[in-house]
Amino acid sequence: MDLFSEKHNDIEYKIDALSKQIEQHNYNYYVLSQPTMSDFEFDKMLEELILLEKENPEFLKPDSPSQRVGGQVTKEFQTVKHKYPMLSLGNTYSREELNDFDERVHKALIGEVEYVCELKYDGVAIGLKYIDGILVQALTRGDGAKGDDVTANVKTIRTIPIKLKGTNFPKEFEIRGEIFLPRKSFNKINKDREEIDEPLLANPRNAASGTLKMQDSSVVAKRNLDCFLYFILGEGLPFKSHYENLEAAKSWGFKVPEGDKIKICSSLNEVSDFINLWNKKRYELDFDVDGIVLKVNRYDQQNSLGFTAKTARWAIAYKYKAEQACTRLLSISYQVGRTGAITPVANLEPVLLAGTTVKRSSLHNADIIEKLDIRVNDYVFVEKGGEIIPKIISVNLDKRGSDVGDKTKYIHLCPECETVLAREEKEANHFCPNEAGCAPQIKGKIEHFVGRKAMNIDSIGAETIEQLFNTDLIKNIADIYELKNKKEELLQIDRMAEKSVNNILQGIEISKQVPFERVLFGLGIRHVGETVAKKLARYFKKIHLLASAKREELLLVDEIGDKIADSILNYFSNNESIELVERLNLAGLLLEVNETEINVLTSNKLESKSFVVSGVFAHFSRESIKESIEINGGKIVSAISSKTDYILAGDKMGPEKLKKAEKLGIKIISEEEYIEMVK
Ligand code: IVH
Repeated sequence: MDLFSEKHNDIEYKIDALSKQIEQHNYNYYVLSQPTMSDFEFDKMLEELILLEKENPEFLKPDSPSQRVGGQVTKEFQTVKHKYPMLSLGNTYSREELNDFDERVHKALIGEVEYVCELKYDGVAIGLKYIDGILVQALTRGDGAKGDDVTANVKTIRTIPIKLKGTNFPKEFEIRGEIFLPRKSFNKINKDREEIDEPLLANPRNAASGTLKMQDSSVVAKRNLDCFLYFILGEGLPFKSHYENLEAAKSWGFKVPEGDKIKICSSLNEVSDFINLWNKKRYELDFDVDGIVLKVNRYDQQNSLGFTAKTARWAIAYKYKAEQACTRLLSISYQVGRTGAITPVANLEPVLLAGTTVKRSSLHNADIIEKLDIRVNDYVFVEKGGEIIPKIISVNLDKRGSDVGDKTKYIHLCPECETVLAREEKEANHFCPNEAGCAPQIKGKIEHFVGRKAMNIDSIGAETIEQLFNTDLIKNIADIYELKNKKEELLQIDRMAEKSVNNILQGIEISKQVPFERVLFGLGIRHVGETVAKKLARYFKKIHLLASAKREELLLVDEIGDKIADSILNYFSNNESIELVERLNLAGLLLEVNETEINVLTSNKLESKSFVVSGVFAHFSRESIKESIEINGGKIVSAISSKTDYILAGDKMGPEKLKKAEKLGIKIISEEEYIEMVK
């Protein structure tokens, strides 16, 4: 064995060892909820693995845990035939029909029957195929006969093993389950969307199904999808019953129902207990459950019961009725959000529903009000289904009395500032265009500006903003930076002592160091979220270049489409915005990217030079230094060869690379030398 291949073996060994450690941690953290290392340690290991694989692509395996971070882009999902058709379950809402099911089962079988009760997860069905313990394919249900291949996206789901543990799994098998979005993640996504005025996702199931069909798997990776597996198919399964095989699947690394989420029952009475338990407890879960599933446990019994054309005869779903209540609509009020969007809210006579008192419910927009034909004093049916916020389903017309007046007329003036409301084409919501003069919009914009992801002035909360606004001390975000000259007035405010005033002023001073991209996000331009702000800041580098950019140029920036471009143009065409930005500039906020990056402006200084980038950098992320090489005319190559011109070496450059570069006599430059080169 020559020296070179020995080195390769070392790398392969290292990649293998790192992969194993990372997958074990994934399993401990996500499946067992028992982490064994810190997030920091984990991130470092994953970073190291990704780097090693990038530098040595010949050792990148399809089962590498680096695929959890995504990156693969699927332009069009392939439709693939299911090996076993993906049938659905017969379902019922009635206990009587459960009795009928039980009778049918006992009639067809001889001897005792054991049922397995599980939760009915309300997500998106998925079939995962494993060959030799490696995940090779993930298909959605589709029409039951054919589904979409969403393998790249599914590999980002941390609770789905890419490589199995143990040994007693069949050479080839399929395991099915339900992909879902935990409520916490769903709420977070909607909160972020609300912040940039994107339409909200209707419920966690739609969100999960939309996420699974996204083209960019690195976006999927950030969405925190999860998956319970509940059905195994294939030849050579180790056991003869459903329950035992699920247990085995657990030992292979799958997240299967356990604890009180699964129960073996030998009578319908025991099944009934399970149904009753989860009818109450389901609201405590972080995911949606719309019923329970009852399955005959033994495979020989399942086989003799068989299938109908569409469903299995050995299983049935008992679905929970969404709880409903009937109550009176007292009034409709209209809320104005930070971006001016109007939300109509139904104020209801308080009514008990699924354990909580309901007093209000969103009516979403004018179309919904029109469709429901809901009027003040009407009795309405309120339902609490998968969603946590109760929904008005319909009006109880039988109870519509003489105290119910004419059709509801949607407001046409802003309830806060009386400006005439507008509604853009294709948008569901009306909005108040009086951005600079409408109180909730002003306060909302200031709250957004001082928020954690923007200027992070944590000494100013919603309550302080309310006080400062009501005492006329701030009317817009630029006024914040003039507060230092108004200490006396600040001290006059209720419950505002010297110490809190100092805290506020100090927080404001510190915020002047917040980088440009976060200031830009803080301006609250419609549709400009954190990521878009970052891309714009990196591209234009200075706010005046962004402010004077033409439509065509805006569209050149990654991720900027018509909607965002229009919104930016609209923002900077407004004199008040320009004045605001000028005042922020005078106050000393960072309205351009830092010096080092500015110096590295577009040029052709690196023309026809090829670079290998390795290690960690002080002034750039690896992505941004690569971007910088490219906009200066250079070329990035992933592996060192005799044709490479430079190795741009950051901290922690791999020793193997160093040796190879030296051997081939390639020039190694530091980050500082690079900056000098392109300055
Ligand atoms: S077993 C032949 N178990 O509900 C039986 N399905 O409406 C295969 N579902 O297609 C399915 N939780 O997408 C099974 N614990 C569970 C389930 C479950 C949710 C879904 C599944 C199924 C649909 C039927």
